[in-house]
Amino acid sequence: MKVLEVKALSFTYEDGTPALKEIDLTIEEGEKVAVIGPNGAGKSTLLHLVAGFRTPFHGSVRVMEEGLDERTADQVRRHIGLLFQDPDDQIFMPTVEEDVAFGPVNLSLDRVEDRVARALRSTSIEDLAKRKPHRLSHGMKKRVAIAGVLAMEPSLLLLDEPTAGLDPHSRSSLIELLRNMSKTMLIATHDLEAAAEIVDRVVLLNGGVAFDGGLAELMTQDAVLEKAGLEPPQISKLFKRLRGMGYEANILPVTLDQGVAEAVRFADREKGRSRDRKT
Ligand SMILES: Nc1ncnc2c1ncn2[C@@H]1O[C@H](COP(=O)(O)OP(=O)(O)OP(=O)(O)O)[C@@H](O)[C@H]1O
Ligand SMILES: [Mg+2]
Repeated sequence: MKVLEVKALSFTYEDGTPALKEIDLTIEEGEKVAVIGPNGAGKSTLLHLVAGFRTPFHGSVRVMEEGLDERTADQVRRHIGLLFQDPDDQIFMPTVEEDVAFGPVNLSLDRVEDRVARALRSTSIEDLAKRKPHRLSHGMKKRVAIAGVLAMEPSLLLLDEPTAGLDPHSRSSLIELLRNMSKTMLIATHDLEAAAEIVDRVVLLNGGVAFDGGLAELMTQDAVLEKAGLEPPQISKLFKRLRGMGYEANILPVTLDQGVAEAVRFADREKGRSRDRKT
């Protein structure tokens, strides 16, 4: 089933700033996709449009096979959980647990307590439940906002820069959480190393859709990377350099695990060579 189908989507802000031009994007159920691109490429705008927060636009957006327009926006929004880039845009209740419960209560969803408990647990913020969210640090607010989105158990998760501003431990646990979550998600991010761990597919916005496919494949397209000002993950850079020295990887690693697997393969090959030389 197509959870999201975007066709020829163009959008210009009221002040005349063009933000999206002729975007096509389809996401099947269970797929995890990252939308990447330089500052101002339109990543946040795309997420807000898909979430039904900005109409009208040119082109078409379908969520769970329902067409999105001014008339249907309220209904379509029920399928979607959007994490805003800035958690201050999302957090407003007096306590963390009330904030996380806000979405489910507002939409009269069932099992509110259970949803809140699960969301607090999966974002590891159970101990913050009674705290005032506006007094928390940026990273903690981010986790509260993520918990609020998860509590809605949406069909489509839209996450705008989920790892930005998190400390290394929180970032790793969020990556782990998103990687293990069997949910359809679209993540806007600059964090390619996180994207490599979480998603199977990346969509690069730079003008229109400049690339749609695997991150490893994108990392080999130097001209596209340069035009979009993208830096490959460190591990990909390492293997690009090694390739220049005659070590050709099967695929260009984009995660540490893939890098380790390739390094072991290189080492085994070297061992084989030295054995051959001895015999
Ligand atoms: N409320 C607004 N009014 C007018 N222009 C806007 C508004 N919000 C965004 N824009 C413009 O739309 C374009 C796309 O912005 P958007 O925030 O979607 O980019 P982005 O890819 O999310 O960037 P970043 O990586 O900095 O988060 C930019 O030119 C931006 O200046
Ligand atoms: Mg943005």
